[in-house]
Amino acid sequence: MSRKYVSLVVLMFLCFHASITEGQQAIYEDPNQPIERRIKDLLGKMNLEEKVGQMTQIERTNATADAMKSYFIGSVLSGGGSAPKVNATPKEWMDMVNGLQQAALSTRLGIPMIYGIDAVHGHNNVANATIFPHNVGLGVTRDPQLVMQIGGVTALEVRATGIHYAFAPCLAVCRDPRWGRCYESYSEDHTIVQQLTTLIDGLQGIPPGDMKGMPYVHGKTKVAGCSKHYVGDGGTVNGINENNTIVDDSTLYGIHMPAYVNSIAKSIATVMASYSSVNGVKMHANKQLLTDHLKGKLGFQGFVISDWQGIDRITSPPHSNYTYSIQASVTAGVDMIMVPYEYKEFINGLIDLVKKNVIPMSRIDDAVTRILRVKFATGLFEYPLGDYSLVNEVGSQTHRELARRAVRKSLVLLKNGKPGNPTLLPLPKITGKILVTGTHANNLGYQCGGWTIEWQGVSGNNWTAGTTILEAVKKTVDKKTKVVYKMNPSKDYPEKTNLDFAIVVVGEVPYAETRGDSTNLTIPDPGPHIIENICKNTKCVVVLISGRPVVIEPYLDKIDALVAAWLPGSEGQGVADVLFGDFGFTGKLARTWFKRVDQLPMNVGDPSYDPLFPFGFGLETQPTSQTTDTVKLEL
Ligand code: BGC
Ligand code: BGC
Repeated sequence: MSRKYVSLVVLMFLCFHASITEGQQAIYEDPNQPIERRIKDLLGKMNLEEKVGQMTQIERTNATADAMKSYFIGSVLSGGGSAPKVNATPKEWMDMVNGLQQAALSTRLGIPMIYGIDAVHGHNNVANATIFPHNVGLGVTRDPQLVMQIGGVTALEVRATGIHYAFAPCLAVCRDPRWGRCYESYSEDHTIVQQLTTLIDGLQGIPPGDMKGMPYVHGKTKVAGCSKHYVGDGGTVNGINENNTIVDDSTLYGIHMPAYVNSIAKSIATVMASYSSVNGVKMHANKQLLTDHLKGKLGFQGFVISDWQGIDRITSPPHSNYTYSIQASVTAGVDMIMVPYEYKEFINGLIDLVKKNVIPMSRIDDAVTRILRVKFATGLFEYPLGDYSLVNEVGSQTHRELARRAVRKSLVLLKNGKPGNPTLLPLPKITGKILVTGTHANNLGYQCGGWTIEWQGVSGNNWTAGTTILEAVKKTVDKKTKVVYKMNPSKDYPEKTNLDFAIVVVGEVPYAETRGDSTNLTIPDPGPHIIENICKNTKCVVVLISGRPVVIEPYLDKIDALVAAWLPGSEGQGVADVLFGDFGFTGKLARTWFKRVDQLPMNVGDPSYDPLFPFGFGLETQPTSQTTDTVKLEL
């Protein structure tokens, strides 16, 4: 054999070999393989460090490319208000997410990370996104189709920033408005909460058939959802946030659990454990409810995520025995831990517990299987990077039109005219002079509430785009009608001026979580004074901006017309649309309106039910014009 011939054979062999290794695709990389096969293949290739990394979710502020690579981090989140910078554009969000994704993809097995965020009333951490009414207002609409469309728009805006995962819907059944998160709940009535699980259809897409608890996410414009906070978050004693829910089985399984059953039937991808306890057992350590019931009996196949430092709070004080917290939560069935900062401590702690056989490898494998299942279902292996062609979807006009419609349908007319007097609403567009007044009349931050731009919400009009109620009134009335705005006018102002009527917009100031807990549920000053001063001297409609029913009985006699507008979000135009009769009032209370806080908790169906306005109450008006609702959405 000539030397030339030998080298030719060697060369041919080398080329052949190279082409085999290049073209060789692992089973897990092959989109044509069934998901369960891909998971098994990938899991078989992973070492303990890689598995534990998948179970770890860290906050974006400490998610460097280095951290992603060295610790094989499986997931990153934005906490409330955690943006890459103030006023970041959708492109800047996407750059940030894609950058972290590149780091994840560069690891040995190239497992993509999943990025999560609280898109709980639209994509609310992002400047200029469409902000929908909080759930307390959506419950009023009792409109599953509308809520599904809201889910669809939210998913699109979330994907338009490169993000794949929304911590929504909140399925709390708020049984006591003293709870600071009551506005995150659709209703005190579990059937309304169940009906509105259609948000999941919008977020994730509708599964092609019964998928038996398997996660489902339909393509690049949909996101993985998260039913939270499992379970009983809305039933804590005296409405104290993160507290104990003391319940018998019929209350637990008849009131707080049903919406989870619906969401599993809708193939929800993830479920978040609640900070609260059920009958004294912390939900983050509740094996019976997380593993036996949710995963076993209900057949949930996605992953269970902890809440923010939720495992720390298993002990009192929080984080006082972190090793125990890791052991108790993972053993109970939590699959992904929202750490969010001390990730090295978590990772080392979990690895140690596995090495010492305190936590069996089978539990780790189950957790990772579930996490990978969601990632495969979300298409992350096929399209890990955000699509820049979507960036203009954020806050688009069509999306705002949908939010405006939601606002119209979420208003509840509680009073319309004093006894013996004609009705005040709808208001005339052509008139002499209107006073618009109150702390909430020209404050976009206030009308959006908590979980908007910042975790606790913001005050003022410089944070994001939208229409305040004042601006909306000005746009709605006839050119000849004079609109005067005074936030907090003096007592004699109405007498000095020739007013036809006043629109008084007052309410609660933004809050989130524990900071919203309230034992008195009063409207903060100067709200009550503005009502008294103005309504005493002129005809007035009071528009209440609040996350829940508040104390109103003492002022009710003085008020001519009263509207509960909840936390309407960015599209204040929806309020003016209905006040001035372009559309009628249709909303019905999805919560009981109490007279006094000493009646609480008081829910529809209670034996001693004596509300100011009962559940289901809501006056109606007829539209005065022929305006039709023209939201054109193809979702
Ligand atoms: C974060 C929120 C989180 C909260 C929990 C805040 O600092 O921004 O996302 O829910 O802490 O306590
Ligand atoms: C809240 C969750 C939220 C998480 C992440 C927690 O404080 O309870 O509802 O999803 O923070 O921001």
